[in-house]
Amino acid sequence: MLEIWGRNPLQGKVEISGAKNSALVLMAGSLLCPEDCRLSNVPDLVDIRRMIQILTALGAKISKTGNTLDINVREINPTQAPYDLVSQLRASFFAIGALLARFGVVRIPLPGGCAIGARPVELHVKGLQAMGAKVFIDSGIVHAHVQGNKSRLQGAKIYLDYPSVGATETLIMAATLAEGETIIENAAQEPEIVDLANFCCAMGAKIRGAGTNQVIISGVESLHSVDYPVISDRIEAGTFLVAGAITHSEISVCSVVPEHLVPVIAKLEAIGCQVVAESNNCLKLIPGELKATDIETLPYPGFPTDMQAQFMALLSVSEGHSLITETVFENRLRHVAELQRMGANIRVKGNHAMIQGVPALSGAPVMATDLRASAALVLAGLAAQGKTIVRGLHHLDRGYENLEAKLRGLGAKIQRINQKI
Ligand code: UD1
Repeated sequence: MLEIWGRNPLQGKVEISGAKNSALVLMAGSLLCPEDCRLSNVPDLVDIRRMIQILTALGAKISKTGNTLDINVREINPTQAPYDLVSQLRASFFAIGALLARFGVVRIPLPGGCAIGARPVELHVKGLQAMGAKVFIDSGIVHAHVQGNKSRLQGAKIYLDYPSVGATETLIMAATLAEGETIIENAAQEPEIVDLANFCCAMGAKIRGAGTNQVIISGVESLHSVDYPVISDRIEAGTFLVAGAITHSEISVCSVVPEHLVPVIAKLEAIGCQVVAESNNCLKLIPGELKATDIETLPYPGFPTDMQAQFMALLSVSEGHSLITETVFENRLRHVAELQRMGANIRVKGNHAMIQGVPALSGAPVMATDLRASAALVLAGLAAQGKTIVRGLHHLDRGYENLEAKLRGLGAKIQRINQKI
């Protein structure tokens, strides 16, 4: 558990790690190519270690040196992804596209991940079917193979009913080695999609339009080795900017891509803070009087659902009445009860949270319910009077590299009482 003594001002500079969601998908993407692949700026997280285990179970040989992974996927069995690991990590399911494209066959358990909603995979499956795959689900396992006498997936025109991040990634990976051209309409536009496309292009894939709602992939026969750095984590960066805001502290958040943070910065400014560029990859948070604002989560470039919980902590101590509407996941307000325990005044109706700002939160024992909720409770603890104890750290360790050490570096009084997983 984490013990946090609140109301300590922060100061100084923090370096943001590589993006978890990007690194996980690039690791899946490495399966596309039999040649060696080196990924740098990979954060050291429980989710990354799980993905290493999953790729290893498929036959990959991976060596990790600091934040660099050397991945050799020459000998792979695409049908032996282990249920107990895949069920804990939704992103590992996204390997279905790469495995099917390279081997023409795949067997992979249905995914798991944070308990923030049903999170089905029908958009992934429909897209693969449009590319000529035969897919059936039996006893929780998805079986897919390329149909008929074709040896490769076939390029297709695919319209996604919803701009799903994972489905867009699965289909981009599948299409890189397909025969002919694939057009994904209503594609997700998140920076992690662009990172995946850049990574695949660096291996020789032909992809246009990543970062817009139409991605066009011209299939190639094979890909080659690559040495590629993962982009920085916009959600970790956003979390630290909120840490500055909620503690009324001027801090610098570095190794970031400011364009990826536009919706987060806009809301911090609406709340009364300023965010200024110190250099092309450093942002300074200048605190201000916190006031209420409304937030609706949306696919990128809308406000990220992965920052919703952290902003709820901030709005809990912002003067006035705020409304948060969660539109991406149906069950992502479970942190409300824990924030209420700390004195927040929040009412929930459906996917709306109505927040009446209070002058101060009070420290309390709280339980993390999912990854981003755990970050929200840490932020609330930094702002609260007295001591907060956050339990359920297995969630936090899935997605934040050295959060407490980085916060301590900024002057926070925070310590972990038990051992990391
Ligand atoms: C990714 C991120 C996650 C982030 C989310 C939204 C990774 C590893 N995770 O998750 O941190 O919160 O994007 O930005 O990158 N859906 C369907 N059918 C499908 C696929 C998705 O109904 O086949 C629904 C989901 O249930 C959810 C919504 O679409 O309600 C968004 O999901 P999606 O964009 O796919 O998120 P993930 O890729 O799972």
